[in-house]
Amino acid sequence: MKVINVVAARPNFMKVAPVAAEMRKHPEIEQRLVHTGQHYSAGLSGDFLRHLGLPEPDINLEVGSASHAVQTAEVMKRFEPVLTQEKPDLVLVVGDVNSTLAAAVTAVKLHVPVAHVEAGLRSFDRTMPEEINRLLTDQISDFLFTTEPSAERNLRAEGIPSERIHFVGNTMIDTLLAQRAVLDVDATLARYKVERHAYALLTLHRPSNVDTPEALGEVLDALAALDEAVRKTDVGGTFRMLFPIHPRTEKNLEAFGLTARAEGIAGLVLLPPLAYGDFLGLMSAAGVVLTDSGGIQEETTVLGVPCLTLRENTERPITLQQGTNVLVGRDVPRIVEHGLAALTGDRPTPRRPDLWDGRAAERIVDILLLRT
Ligand code: UD1
Repeated sequence: MKVINVVAARPNFMKVAPVAAEMRKHPEIEQRLVHTGQHYSAGLSGDFLRHLGLPEPDINLEVGSASHAVQTAEVMKRFEPVLTQEKPDLVLVVGDVNSTLAAAVTAVKLHVPVAHVEAGLRSFDRTMPEEINRLLTDQISDFLFTTEPSAERNLRAEGIPSERIHFVGNTMIDTLLAQRAVLDVDATLARYKVERHAYALLTLHRPSNVDTPEALGEVLDALAALDEAVRKTDVGGTFRMLFPIHPRTEKNLEAFGLTARAEGIAGLVLLPPLAYGDFLGLMSAAGVVLTDSGGIQEETTVLGVPCLTLRENTERPITLQQGTNVLVGRDVPRIVEHGLAALTGDRPTPRRPDLWDGRAAERIVDILLLRT
């Protein structure tokens, strides 16, 4: 069986790495790694490939950044000849980025079966580009590998036959559990000069939070209010909010003239995007995580770290039901209340939702070997 695994953007690498590693154990699987080039900066791409043990991609489509239509179209144009030449038996895509949809459509039109890892998640918010990518990729995929029970319900409601749906667990958590075992958290905390449970970790890149001056300004208001409130507590003196800043957010802070305002928040420490190991180390010992990422909501659930999600909805409801996740939007009092509670209250218990056990990739490969 010849498989093309597709990666494109930062959150894809940790989802594909365990699947590629599992495939390597089976000599009957020949695999190629195609990188679409959607993310190209070392801090968002190359460093992750190396750290997670993925090989150098066999092919890089080098699409780079562009508008949604152009980026999606470029992946399609450049991926089609790869498929014609390589003639794979299967294309495996992960997550919900533009390249996920583009690679899936291109493969299906050439009658190449598609496997979608992390299928069925729905925020029911069609203003999110990822929601459109998820809906369309799932409709045309042959194998829908799901991470949580809500995904199967969503897919069934959209008319997807149940024989295509396979509840396998979470390959991103496979990576987290494997990498956590080799982390030196204390060394990481010392390097970033923070104390266990006495700092916040922040990530922010959703267009809805960072693409207008109003939204980004509201986020800064919330951070300033939280910083001020924490300073009045026992945690106060050493409190830091570490903010590894996504290039999209950094560009917009600058463009909207908000950089000085961010720098004016006493505890806020702006950092470049971090390597996976450093980020995981910082996340596992954080007092609280503030984020608009999808994957971080899941990772904090497993690590038992309070997570405030700066969104009005989540496509990962299991993190609300079983995990540490709370939706806070950009509501300043809510962020201050939950942030303070996380930093000064008892630590939540780490939870592993069903099948988030480090063996999702193994299940995926077993199913593929059986069915193709
Ligand atoms: C993309 C995904 C999003 C995912 C996120 C993770 C889509 C629609 N969005 O959003 O789902 O959560 O990746 O990071 O697919 N840039 C760089 N270096 C890079 C890549 C981008 O500097 O390697 C800058 C460029 O200025 C670019 C901007 O970041 O215009 C945004 O990049 P883009 O890939 O369009 O979207 P993300 O916000 O990263």
